[in-house]
Amino acid sequence: MIIKLFDESSFEEAFNICKLSMNLDELNEDVFREKTFSDPDFLPACTLMAYDNSNPVGFIMGVIRKRESGLTGYIKLLAVHPEYRRKGIATKLYANVESEFKRAGVKIIRVYESWPNYFMPGLDPFYTEAICFFERNRFLKIGDTSNLVCHLKNKDFGTEAEEKTAWANGIEIRRAVEKDYKAMIAWIDKNFKAWEGEVSSSFKNIPISLHIALISGEIIAFSAYEANNKTLGWFGPMGTTEAARGKGVGGILLRRCIADMQKLGFDKAIIPWVGPIPFYMHYIGSKVQRVFWRYEKKME
Ligand SMILES: CC(C)(COP(=O)(O)OP(=O)(O)OC[C@H]1O[C@@H](n2cnc3c(N)ncnc32)[C@H](O)[C@@H]1OP(=O)(O)O)[C@@H](O)C(=O)NCCC(=O)NCCS
Repeated sequence: MIIKLFDESSFEEAFNICKLSMNLDELNEDVFREKTFSDPDFLPACTLMAYDNSNPVGFIMGVIRKRESGLTGYIKLLAVHPEYRRKGIATKLYANVESEFKRAGVKIIRVYESWPNYFMPGLDPFYTEAICFFERNRFLKIGDTSNLVCHLKNKDFGTEAEEKTAWANGIEIRRAVEKDYKAMIAWIDKNFKAWEGEVSSSFKNIPISLHIALISGEIIAFSAYEANNKTLGWFGPMGTTEAARGKGVGGILLRRCIADMQKLGFDKAIIPWVGPIPFYMHYIGSKVQRVFWRYEKKME
């Protein structure tokens, strides 16, 4: 087996291995590009292909992100062709990435949840081989999370009445426009720093896939969609400042985004990595679709 750096010439091969291996997920070439080359932390030394003779048989992508607690490494994607499993291919790919992480001074490694650009918020335990693999590599389970699904067909997500009441109370609700960008990013940095990447990404869509609520011109809440895993119908993130909570603003913004997604032709919306499940169930009737286990390894 030989290991090579992933590049444009192996894009198709890596995509095919991932698509074949991660069969519980929707994956298309646009999303695969977004996950790989379009990640601002894309690291060639940690993005590797494995070949058996000239057959592409495995792919791994690791990224390093600067977090408040220090440098965190993420195994962002890992897949071995089903016909080449249990031959130590993932082990070799992982060992290369882990030693790069070590060299870079990474203190903690996590699996898949590489926000703001991530494919899954953890490991789906139905990929049981992956659970076995990471536990064998001394990763410990640190929690779990879930994705919700909201089916959009033949449903009404209108907010007219609620918006009238909000306006009467001095709350302006509208889609963000280009000139809101600076104020939005300043507000996000102050209130929900972790979501800056996704908010920024929503401003690149046409139309901008983010709605805001304001009082006297000051942002108090936002809600976005198609900000990560674009084309797959992912909602989020969303947030309301503490002082403005409990007034129904989040519900209006959520439903505005979901209504947009319905108009775009999605038949379902994924609400990933939640969050207050009762809030989403109340406003859009969404239910748990998948569960993810979160894993971590501390570097010695
Ligand atoms: C997880 C995956 C990458 C492992 O690839 P692999 O090349 O078969 O892994 P390795 O041969 O290096 O396995 C190393 C160890 O992991 C564990 N392991 C891997 N697959 C296992 C299985 N099917 N059953 C039990 N243990 C397993 C074992 O401890 C194994 O060591 P051993 O063979 O000496 O017992 C592969 O199964 C895969 O592509 N799965 C689908 C994609 C996926 O789930 N990715 C993560 C998505 S969340």
